Amino acid sequence: MNQDIRKKFPFYIKNKDVSYLDSAASSLKLKSVIESLNDYYANNGSNIHRGVYRLAYEATNQFEETREYVSKFINSNLNEVVFTKGTTDSLNKIASSYSDFIFEDDEIITTELEHHSSFIPWQVIAKEKKARLKFLPLTEEGKITVENFKKVISNKTKVVAITYVSNVLGYVTPIKEIIEIAHQNGAIVILDAAQAASHLKIDVKELDVDFLAFSSHKMYGPNGVGILFGKEKLLNQLKPFEYGGEMAHLVFKDESSWKDIPYKFEAGTPVIAEVIAFKESIKFLEEISLDKIHEHEMKLRDYTLNKLKDVKGLTVYNKTAETGIITFNIENVHPHDAASILDQNNVCVRAGHHCAQLVAKFLGVTATLRASFAVYNDYKDCDNLVNAIIATRDFFESF
Ligand SMILES: Cc1ncc(COP(=O)(O)O)c(C=O)c1O
Repeated sequence: MNQDIRKKFPFYIKNKDVSYLDSAASSLKLKSVIESLNDYYANNGSNIHRGVYRLAYEATNQFEETREYVSKFINSNLNEVVFTKGTTDSLNKIASSYSDFIFEDDEIITTELEHHSSFIPWQVIAKEKKARLKFLPLTEEGKITVENFKKVISNKTKVVAITYVSNVLGYVTPIKEIIEIAHQNGAIVILDAAQAASHLKIDVKELDVDFLAFSSHKMYGPNGVGILFGKEKLLNQLKPFEYGGEMAHLVFKDESSWKDIPYKFEAGTPVIAEVIAFKESIKFLEEISLDKIHEHEMKLRDYTLNKLKDVKGLTVYNKTAETGIITFNIENVHPHDAASILDQNNVCVRAGHHCAQLVAKFLGVTATLRASFAVYNDYKDCDNLVNAIIATRDFFESF
């Protein structure tokens, strides 16, 4: 990976010696993103879709331009891109709105690999509607397979709520086949692409996916911006998520009508600067290419795993992951204690259940450590991680 990449991330000006390995939680922010945010806040500040003066038009155009970038990025129609606050917001909104089509004895399929935001909304809906929540059995390694999906899908299945890439184990779901089979059985698929969007090329038309969600802050972009993709036909069938400004078409005392999609799903003032700035992330990802980024992350992961294989007292849970995530534990050391010592060694990793408690249960642990690689990481970060893990293990062993 080009050495100049780090220059695009101002983080490294003050944090030269920090090995930031928690990009699966939130990535570092691009200089171009920060400049774009600053530009809107310093030089504009007006609302969008409302004002009839030049600055309001400019802000609206810049905001809508991001929708074009996103729709090209995932190969959707323009009106199929809805801006939300994040993946959690997208997944909750779609679950709550689509629950109108769920009835007693319907089946909803999910997996133990899900982030809480993908599966809990459906757990709650299943209870309310007396529908059945079914879990696709994972393989011994914790993977989702088409074969096991076939064991749980039936013509009673209405929804499949599933992750594209596991945020704990980094496995990639064989989603195209799963979608095909789900459709043959009359079910729709809601795909959590939070951990996929900055690593794998997503083509919603090729996947034929029904709904898809991801977050800008994991893509070198600003916080507070989420994407909800939905097929036009399905979005048109759904009721609005919220009611208020700029989503209503005609309003009377006794009833109101809604604007066309996607606007009927975007009530109120959005995070204008953040949406405008998000296009800088997409430009960056496309300039480098997701294939190259993924290849780079996998090289770093393989290099690290190779070094870790001789380190005693370490359990790695996902040696065969297809993305740049290493999830591990140091024997007899609580992950939170380990993460603190790693931090003292200038290595940032995540510790905990990663908002996926069912995965921790599946692994038979309460928590894990997770190192995740991104475009700006290099071999020095890998060495720092390995050395810090050894130092942490030795520190706790000395007691
Ligand atoms: C797989 C997965 N789904 C959903 C989310 C939720 O994303 P957000 O916090 O941006 O709403 C995350 C965040 O870590 C994730 O990794």
